[in-house]
Amino acid sequence: MQHNMPTSPLPNPVHLECLDCGHLTPFSVTAVSCPRCGGQWREARYDLDHLRPLLPATFLGRPFDLWRYTELLPVFGPNPLLTMGEGGTPLIHAANLGMMLGCPHIYIKDERHGPTASFKDRQAALTITALKDAGITEAVLASTGNVAIAYSACAARAGIKLWTFLTSLVPPEKMREVAIYGSQVVKVTASYDQVKQIAAEFARQRGLYLERGSRSITSVEAMKTIAFEIAEQLTQRLGPPGTQIPGSQGAQHTPPWRAPDWYIQAVSGGLGPHGVQKGFAELYRLGLTDRQPAMAHIQSAGCAPMVHAWVQGLSQADPIRNPRTLITTLATGDPGRTYTLLRQRMLDAAHSAAGAAGIDERPARGLAAAPGAAAAAASGGVFDSVTDEEAFRTIHVVAKMEGISIEPAAAVAFAGLIKLVRLGTIQPSDLVVINCSGHTMPIEKSILGDNWTRDIDISPQALLQTPEEGLYAALSRVTADRFARIAIVDDTPDARRLIRRILQAQPTPAGDFTIFEAADGLQAIQLAQREPLDLIILDLMMPEMDGFAVLDALKNDPRTASIPVIVVTAKELTLEEKQRLQGRIQSLMQKGEFLNDDLLDEITSLLP
Ligand SMILES: Cc1ncc(COP(=O)(O)O)c(C=O)c1O
Ligand SMILES: [Zn+2]
Repeated sequence: MQHNMPTSPLPNPVHLECLDCGHLTPFSVTAVSCPRCGGQWREARYDLDHLRPLLPATFLGRPFDLWRYTELLPVFGPNPLLTMGEGGTPLIHAANLGMMLGCPHIYIKDERHGPTASFKDRQAALTITALKDAGITEAVLASTGNVAIAYSACAARAGIKLWTFLTSLVPPEKMREVAIYGSQVVKVTASYDQVKQIAAEFARQRGLYLERGSRSITSVEAMKTIAFEIAEQLTQRLGPPGTQIPGSQGAQHTPPWRAPDWYIQAVSGGLGPHGVQKGFAELYRLGLTDRQPAMAHIQSAGCAPMVHAWVQGLSQADPIRNPRTLITTLATGDPGRTYTLLRQRMLDAAHSAAGAAGIDERPARGLAAAPGAAAAAASGGVFDSVTDEEAFRTIHVVAKMEGISIEPAAAVAFAGLIKLVRLGTIQPSDLVVINCSGHTMPIEKSILGDNWTRDIDISPQALLQTPEEGLYAALSRVTADRFARIAIVDDTPDARRLIRRILQAQPTPAGDFTIFEAADGLQAIQLAQREPLDLIILDLMMPEMDGFAVLDALKNDPRTASIPVIVVTAKELTLEEKQRLQGRIQSLMQKGEFLNDDLLDEITSLLP
């Protein structure tokens, strides 16, 4: 599939192609549907023809992290305020496991090295960077834990308020981690698929950005970087593939990078492998690799809708209504269109591999009857499942054999590796990369105090007691309709971001504020006249109209005279200046001398 797009002078002219009607639009993080048909499923397209001669040279001098591949991402590069070194995780040779399994070429992509110890850090970094660029200050997501943790860390740096909707089955340690970062935690007693629906409705009602998994362009694109890094790292270790691309014209072309025969990952909604698969496909189309790996998508047997569909040769997965797995991280019962897309890309890859090798294609199912890398490549890979018991046992195997401690969801992939080797689907000579997608550190248990979740209970038992409480009706208790309205007046963006963050990072409904910003005195006065404000946080040293002049104007206008004011200043005040403030402000706080909670206490004491 090649796409003819106008060549833009921009380094990354990213377009979105609607998967329903083919309409192309320039990328925008906030425009979430096709303007022509309203379809929500779109994919980012790059001008690969333009990029081909520039790659990989353009990447090579840059740091080894996610941002190295900016030309193939929908942002212009990292935001230095936000980045914490995401991406660039190690690729580790699993020598002991490999020897045990009789497969010497197994490599572990160790995503525990992300800032919050899972592969979701990539998704969070890219999405929050794009949201920050777009001026978004509040967002919503549903999660089984790791997405919420990764986004919360990044949102803290960005000054973005995050509403996280978590199933009550998420381990308390993970929920607490989300709350520690200052995100709002809404604990929902329901299945994960229902939690996603509730979060979506909450976002819709409030007009907030919603993380949409495989439909969120930045999320999918971020996951591609796993494929890019793997190809570079394999090449560094094993050298370039040194093979001719059959069918290429003219002189022999040696692709510079090596792709594995197999890529294995644990799957819930399928976002991760969806992005990784796209990454490998782009590398192949760019001529940077000579193959696309067979994909092994491994699900937990108690929640394996994709595996059921694959085995039956179906292009759509039937949802599992009652997932029965202890591994809540992988409890997506309804993968929706992601399964269809994963499968389609496998078939496409198989088609191009078969074409290149001049062999007949095999049917895209029944792999057990046709084991081996050649067969796998000819079918694009496999969906398979493992039991919880196999996964838990594998945690111990990987820790003891490789010194790598993994969470149950990641163990599902490793148990899948063992299963596929035993089945003969993966062969001893195959080059295999497995995604070690997460590791949860033990976390602190005492600093949060009580009441740090907002609870929704729509379990059958709860509905019996309050039958009028429907799925969405319960949302009205998550937060008040009207929040206290606070203006931050400061000419320094960093200072505004800091104060915004202090206001947002409160776990309880008492910490819900509607926040306004003004970057100079004039804006502040106009804002105060326009909006009914409950409080103003005012800087003193601002060019043109300083804080004293703003105070004069506010106090001389009967509409604004009674709004309480907290002055937050870096200025050492003279006696005369202090007298000028006397009786006109409620509080004076010296920058550098207070911590977040001090300011917050002051604010809450002044609000009605
Ligand atoms: C550690 C870990 N592995 C695997 C997955 C599966 O994710 P997905 O199917 O969305 O790529 C998740 C999802 O949260 C996860 O946290
Ligand atoms: Zn469309």
